[in-house]
Amino acid sequence: MSELIELRRQAAQCTACELHAEATQTVFGSGNPHAAMVLVGEQPGDREDVAGEPFVGPAGRVLERALERAGVTRADVYVTNVVKHFRFRRQGKVRIHRTPGVEHVRACLPWLRAELASIRPHLLVMLGATAAKALLGTSFRLTQHRGEVLEYQGLPLVATIHPSAVLRGPKDRQAEMLDGLVADLELAGRTAHRIGQRGLTARKPAVG
Ligand code: URA
Repeated sequence: MSELIELRRQAAQCTACELHAEATQTVFGSGNPHAAMVLVGEQPGDREDVAGEPFVGPAGRVLERALERAGVTRADVYVTNVVKHFRFRRQGKVRIHRTPGVEHVRACLPWLRAELASIRPHLLVMLGATAAKALLGTSFRLTQHRGEVLEYQGLPLVATIHPSAVLRGPKDRQAEMLDGLVADLELAGRTAHRIGQRGLTARKPAVG
């Protein structure tokens, strides 16, 4: 636990890429420090940037609803992002999300690796293509690997859509998209549970 607190303290000072200059603050991961399941998003949004916590805005509410339907309690998981500063462009008074570049992902990845090395979860859930590509490589195609249990450095991994994709999707497809997210989270929950039962005495894989 104290390891994550120390990491959070250090990450608050991070200047490894230029995003720190415009963002309000570093948004470090939060949740259960002993979580069997870690959920990884892309980067904080406008609301998260202000609040300093991941997934507290509209996408967070979709995630919360999907987790609930999948039978996963948010308090039981740890939620974080690949990139820990908000990347945006200004349009008048509004800050518009910009997808982080490979250089931002590369600069920020040591924090995610450190979080995983501390928590040592049973399973990772990558929310959206940017997050999945950060660990699985840029040639990874989410559409081809939905519903599969993949692996990252010995750690089981499920990749699914980003909750904000549900919000951005056509109105008549949103329910179906949410169902898909729920199904992927159910798969992740079942798999993490199975690994937990099997591995009562086994060491969880370390990622460092
Ligand atoms: N989108 C993300 O990927 N992460 C957040 O924390 C919020 C929105």
